[in-house]
Amino acid sequence: MTFDRSIKIAPSILAADFANFGAECATVEEQGADWIHVDVMDGHFVPNITFGPATCAAIRPHIKGVMDVHLMIAPADPYLAEFAKAGADVLTVHAEAGPHLHRSVQMIRDLGCKAGVALNPATPANAVEYVLDRIDLICVMTVNPGFGGQSFIDSQIEKVRQLRAMIGDRPIHIEIDGGMTPTTAPLMAAAGADVLVAGSAVFKGGSVTNPAPYGENIRAIRAAAEKATGVLV
Ligand code: DX5
Ligand code: ZN
Repeated sequence: MTFDRSIKIAPSILAADFANFGAECATVEEQGADWIHVDVMDGHFVPNITFGPATCAAIRPHIKGVMDVHLMIAPADPYLAEFAKAGADVLTVHAEAGPHLHRSVQMIRDLGCKAGVALNPATPANAVEYVLDRIDLICVMTVNPGFGGQSFIDSQIEKVRQLRAMIGDRPIHIEIDGGMTPTTAPLMAAAGADVLVAGSAVFKGGSVTNPAPYGENIRAIRAAAEKATGVLV
């Protein structure tokens, strides 16, 4: 994985057909997705259950690009090696999921993955201050994690501005997760985000047999975000 701050659209397969993940990943990549965002939920850290490392490993061969695994599980540390083995490129833990964030991100890098830290809406930006030199991505949750299709929480715009200033020249992605649409994405891109996760807004109206809406949805989010960062579209 190379680093840059261009806008990247990461469809969340939480909004895809759960019976057809392989084809959904390949289709959405063909339609212009930059990364594939994989939401792992445990029914304990968040009030919903999705799937675990075996499903991630099964999906992996169907993804050509970046597999971005968002762990909404607590504890996370005992499972990091399994998710790395499953082929995660980016492995993100929640700052709220355990007492030893510094150890968790170190473990992720030692396993050969890019290390991400996700922050719930109520968690301040400075939760990552003392791990900034050890991480590759900060995921700002713009909904309370657990479900797709929720409304964007706009208090997180200021958090992204603060994080962008804190990061300085460090090669750290700012990812936004929750409620991203062509209306909300530009607000976050202008504040300093470069990776935009979108579930419902990408998968709506399409399917593996009718993939064109996926492409249209991705292009609409990207164009709105790039306009806000001054990239000509
Ligand atoms: C929420 C997940 C998100 C979610 C985004 O817990 O982490 O990735 O799928 O879905 P939308 O884009 O529908 O808000
Ligand atoms: Zn997510």
